[in-house]
Amino acid sequence: MLISVCSLKGSPGVTTVAAGLALTWPGDDRFIAECDPSGGDLGSWARVPTQSTKGVGPLIRAVAQSSARPDLNDFIVDVYDWQGSAQQGRGLPVLLGLDNPDHVSGDPEGNWNRVARAIVTHPGVVIADAGRVQPAAQTQRELIARSAVVLVVVQPSIEQARYARARLPLLTSIRAGGGHDASTVRLVVIGEKPYHPSEFAGFLADAKVPTPVAAQIPFEPDKAGPHVVGAEPKRQRRSRVLGALAALAVALEAEFVEHPVENKEMTGAATA
Ligand SMILES: Nc1ncnc2c1ncn2[C@@H]1O[C@H](COP(=O)(O)OP(=O)(O)O)[C@@H](O)[C@H]1O
Ligand SMILES: [Mg+2]
Repeated sequence: MLISVCSLKGSPGVTTVAAGLALTWPGDDRFIAECDPSGGDLGSWARVPTQSTKGVGPLIRAVAQSSARPDLNDFIVDVYDWQGSAQQGRGLPVLLGLDNPDHVSGDPEGNWNRVARAIVTHPGVVIADAGRVQPAAQTQRELIARSAVVLVVVQPSIEQARYARARLPLLTSIRAGGGHDASTVRLVVIGEKPYHPSEFAGFLADAKVPTPVAAQIPFEPDKAGPHVVGAEPKRQRRSRVLGALAALAVALEAEFVEHPVENKEMTGAATA
């Protein structure tokens, strides 16, 4: 199950949302795929030394050298492995993004597309940080078309509302190509200024681009960005940013991850 987190303009908090969802996800079977074409941030946020065999860069090189489908698990690292005992008891598995975006722009063979395909067909839960959506970027289109849900992170300003009005129809048309209806494109609104999230959503609805608000995240600069992965667990538990993202994680898990229903009667019949 793939969840894509993206923005339409600027740097509203996509990586913060993706990291917070993964940190608070119910269960351990999930990882973050850093697919922002402009590069990844979690490696530096968690102070992970540069990796020569893990992450998107080595994965692109691996698919360039072999036609076999890569096993993503071979390229994922737990970014807390470098943080010592402070983070014990929790993991944050990440397919680290590029630290040199030239690897994507200089990819005439389309290897990055094969990476995207491996991500969208991965059997577990993948939270993809898709970065800012650029209409021409084929890899982002693939992620957006094939996700169970697309979270569009916005700050509730008039500029972002105008941009969202212009750009959301593109997202929903890419989604339609993947067989998903418009209700699976949802807003994650950061803060309440200058407009309340409900006013922001109202503007879009009036503009005939109705888009549900999946979550409202408090504006707390000292709990966002690098602080999301860097803070002590005790501080993290007090963070309202992580609290709001935990509630979103639980809701998404309940809505989109299939839980096999155990049929007690049948189990009983079989053992009787
Ligand atoms: N909920 C939030 N409250 C306050 N500041 C935030 C919040 N989310 C993100 N930020 C800040 O915005 C900047 C960009 O965040 P980041 O998550 O890297 O966004 P993006 O991935 O969209 O570039 C960082 O300085 C970060 O601390
Ligand atoms: Mg980012």
